[in-house]
Amino acid sequence: VTFTAGVVGLGYWGPNLARNLASHPQFRLTALCDADRTRLDRHGAFYPAARCFTSLQELLATARPDLLAIATPVASHHRLAKEALEAGCHVLVEKPLARTSAEADELVQLAARRERHLFVDHTFLFTGAVAEIRKQVASGALGDLLYVDSVRISLGLFQPDVDVVWDLAPHDLAILNYVVGRRLVSVRALGSSHNPRGTADVAYLHLDYEGGIGAHLHLSWLSPVKVRRMILAGRRQSLIYDDLEPAEKVKIYDHGVAFDYNDPETQRQVLVSYRKGDMRAPALSVSEALSTEMDEIAQVLDGRASSRAGGTEGRAVMQALEAADRSLKAGGAAVSLDG
Ligand SMILES: NC(=O)c1ccc[n+]([C@@H]2O[C@H](COP(=O)([O-])OP(=O)(O)OC[C@H]3O[C@@H](n4cnc5c(N)ncnc54)[C@H](O)[C@@H]3O)[C@@H](O)[C@H]2O)c1
Repeated sequence: VTFTAGVVGLGYWGPNLARNLASHPQFRLTALCDADRTRLDRHGAFYPAARCFTSLQELLATARPDLLAIATPVASHHRLAKEALEAGCHVLVEKPLARTSAEADELVQLAARRERHLFVDHTFLFTGAVAEIRKQVASGALGDLLYVDSVRISLGLFQPDVDVVWDLAPHDLAILNYVVGRRLVSVRALGSSHNPRGTADVAYLHLDYEGGIGAHLHLSWLSPVKVRRMILAGRRQSLIYDDLEPAEKVKIYDHGVAFDYNDPETQRQVLVSYRKGDMRAPALSVSEALSTEMDEIAQVLDGRASSRAGGTEGRAVMQALEAADRSLKAGGAAVSLDG
């Protein structure tokens, strides 16, 4: 089965969606839309089979595709996704899904009522590295997860409408919700601002997952060097994910610490033993994440798979971001997530 697809928003990221949809055997790129005529014409020239529109209403009225991908700025996600769902399209929305969890909720409910699929482009979940990390955690190879430490810092692009938490944490939240596989219980956030807008440009988040697993995120637009590194420490083995490594992005260390008591009755003398075994770097899938993502979307539309990044996952990220906002305002107090 092939599905027709359209893309709205052809700025920085949208063209990647268009390219992956156009080259996928199960999709036909039939419609493109951007409010900017010059951009539309430039990208339209690559895809002669696609019809070009400057407004989504016009596209939906005359060339409604099975799947509409939305890659416009966040403020417009909710409105455009709503229009497309109401017109009967399945929808893939760029991250973050919306501006608030109330908006995200509305989209999740609308998609359910209309029996349409809602996908969120949490691209990292489709990388070979994150797939491997999830496999390592789920298989028990690391043993119980003890904690996660993540650093996502660089000289960032200062965004006009969001702070560093909304810009960078969606990636960590999507990855951690997916690999930890536990419910996020609460969020604490501290941050500071060094720019005239007063938005946080350096922030530290602490996430508490069920089962006592804590994750610490360091986010910054003000770092002289770029770091994208996550440590997942397990009781048996630990893993380091360095997204900037060209090949060996995931390294598994067979290192651990064991505690023994000389006298288990009194627990007075503790024996600490260290184990330092090998490090290995598993071979990872090198497929482009968006191509793997389109494979999964086609399978979901065919009824052969379920999505790892649907509306529910998108909404969970929004809820965590809102909790971080509240905690920032409350000087780092723990804000719990309902459920
Ligand atoms: N998944 C990822 O890794 C990733 C990477 C970058 C950006 N993004 C996300 O993609 C989205 C877009 O980001 P970007 O950097 O490409 O933005 P951008 O500003 O470069 O492009 C947005 C495009 O949308 C068009 N547009 C805006 N409103 C429109 C409307 N109502 N109708 C039609 N066209 C409209 C603009 O003319 C522009 O060409 C954001 O949500 C961003 O978070 C995701």
